[in-house]
Amino acid sequence: MKIAILASEGAPYVKSGGLGDVMEALPAALARIEGNEVTLILPYYKKIKDNPAYEVEQVAQFYVALGWRQQYAGIMRLKNRTDGVQVYFIDNLYYFGAREGAIYGNPDDAERFAFFSKACLDTLVCMGFIPDVIQCNDWQTAAVPTFLKAYYGPLFPNTKCMFTIHNVEYQGWANGDFFDNVLALPWEYRPRLDMNGAVNLMKGAIECADLVTTVSETYARELMYPYYAHGLDSVLSGNAWKLTGITNGIDTNTFNPETDPALPAHYNADSFVEGKAACKAALQEEVGLPVNPDVPLMVMVTRLAGHKGLDLLCYIARRLLWEEDCQLLILGTGEYHFEEYFKELAYEFPDRVAAKITFNLGLAARIYAGGDLYLMPSKSEPCGLSQMNAMRYGTVPVVHATGGLQDTVPGADADGNGGLGFTFQSYNADDFLASLKRGLHLYRYNRDAFRALQRRGMEQDFSWNVPAGKYMEQFYRMQNM
Ligand code: GLC
Repeated sequence: MKIAILASEGAPYVKSGGLGDVMEALPAALARIEGNEVTLILPYYKKIKDNPAYEVEQVAQFYVALGWRQQYAGIMRLKNRTDGVQVYFIDNLYYFGAREGAIYGNPDDAERFAFFSKACLDTLVCMGFIPDVIQCNDWQTAAVPTFLKAYYGPLFPNTKCMFTIHNVEYQGWANGDFFDNVLALPWEYRPRLDMNGAVNLMKGAIECADLVTTVSETYARELMYPYYAHGLDSVLSGNAWKLTGITNGIDTNTFNPETDPALPAHYNADSFVEGKAACKAALQEEVGLPVNPDVPLMVMVTRLAGHKGLDLLCYIARRLLWEEDCQLLILGTGEYHFEEYFKELAYEFPDRVAAKITFNLGLAARIYAGGDLYLMPSKSEPCGLSQMNAMRYGTVPVVHATGGLQDTVPGADADGNGGLGFTFQSYNADDFLASLKRGLHLYRYNRDAFRALQRRGMEQDFSWNVPAGKYMEQFYRMQNM
């Protein structure tokens, strides 16, 4: 099958979050399936352009019509990718190549990614790659299904289009005049993109795509409810027949405690006790906490954003530290008030709490390996990847049972039986505290049961093979529509 994957980020070239990880591993997993031809298209951001590791050649150039604008697009083919995925970057200095700093957050983001979406379709035409399936991701490529239906039908007569929601919170809102001014779509598309007079690109994608997927089964159900859907619940429930959840995998080659070069010691599910103890001691040393194997070490690697459940942690942190002998280590950057809170907490409890307000992939890996409990009390979580990284490294997750967390971390009882981690159902700080205590007590009073839980987590298959097969099922389903 010929598959084109379109996204605004993809590791290792550019990544701001989980979408970047998925766009590294999913195309590769699909390309490993016999008979597939996979093309991935990304914007040619300045940081990709400036990185000499990525050898590119320009293979085409053309102008993209965007309302009254004619915008240049250069197609840069990546020369040194070896896993069979064909990667193209779309070059435009004004929208991508000359902008410093973060890849999102410019006032003209909607226009930048409308350009990218249209340029992707033009690239496929120009390269003569007429795919069976286009898979596009999140609001940045949400204009693709609409453009495809409105303008590209004759060029792609048999191409089906899947839209995948990684996070419904970001929808691609623009003023109403964006519809004529930038998208320049036929008027009959207006109702599909309209929300209260404004343009909502994600709404258009849900209406126009052949199928919609999201990144876990539970999140697919949650999206039917106002609490989770950020205004799109009625649109999604109206299109419920199109929507399926496919839980992400993780890159089990990169995230492998047997080989990860960032770790001071290596181990696997069959014998992890010593290796993990060595990683814990080295981690405590590295972050300036007392080196003590008996004190349970709770860890978090996260963006310091509200929906990650940090308000719950802030609410109970002092009580937890008074009541339990434990250590807490946080790595991440984000909202100022959270950064300050955790710095202050570390100052107040210097031999109990460490806060590393920074972004550091190597330290993140050492935290997955050296921790005992991995905290992820997210308010909502479409899938979440780091709980899987943690389990792969033998760190037991404590999670709010929502979205992908519910699907990947079945809750264990207080004796550690029947699940992979400790969970709480309602988003409530006391319930979070209670589930944390279950984990801490199991660690302290029944180390064998704790180890059995660790081993079960390490034995799970979180690889992309299973989800890639499910994407293929949906691709075939579209072809038969
Ligand atoms: C988004 C979601 C996260 C998910 C990731 C990859 O970042 O917030 O839950 O794991 O996308 O799909």
